[in-house]
Amino acid sequence: MKRLLLIALLPFSAYSQTARDPAVEGPKIIAEAFAKLSGALGETIGKSGPTGALSVCSENAPQIAKEVAAAHGVTLRRATHKPRNPKNAADEVEKAALEAFMAALAKKEPPKPQVITNADGSRAFLAPIVLGNPLCLQCHGTPGKDIAPETLAAIQKLYPDDKATGFQLGDLRGLWRIAFPASK
Ligand code: HEC
Repeated sequence: MKRLLLIALLPFSAYSQTARDPAVEGPKIIAEAFAKLSGALGETIGKSGPTGALSVCSENAPQIAKEVAAAHGVTLRRATHKPRNPKNAADEVEKAALEAFMAALAKKEPPKPQVITNADGSRAFLAPIVLGNPLCLQCHGTPGKDIAPETLAAIQKLYPDDKATGFQLGDLRGLWRIAFPASK
């Protein structure tokens, strides 16, 4: 009887030791990526202005995301309804999450991150990116008001199809998506 109970409990305890909880890990991974990114951005803007800092976003941002993701055994991406880089355009899953985040913001409620479980058992964690720092407006705000003409010109040269301007503080800019592998 005792042995039977042990066997019955084993799969559960083995699972709970190795299983990862996206709702717990997700925010930590994002905080780490965000801290690295804003650190690099703030430093470079201070030294060479927003135009000089464009490369931090175009080159360092994807690199930082890759490094943080590799350290945690996940994949990490930023996606948005108004992409600067067309690679970051939201897919159907991301669009649904963005709509939920926007609906919450419209009601003046904090948008809640989502955990999605796929058919193969892998999971995704999606968390809102709300523009909270005036620094962001230097490249995502209103042209002529927040974005200097030479910065705008440099952005348009790198991203001829840019849709990522006209944002205000408190607007939804996009989301982070972390893909967790299926746990065994
Ligand atoms: C120096 C200019 C600059 C500043 C300041 C800046 N960004 Fe960006 N942002 C960019 C560029 C360039 C890209 C395109 C990156 C790429 O090619 O992947 C981008 C892309 C993004 C994306 C990915 C979606 C997309 O449109 O491609 C998000 C999300 C984002 N920025 C949020 C922010 C936030 C939040 C801040 C403030 C903390 C910020 N940005 C500040 C230039 C900037």
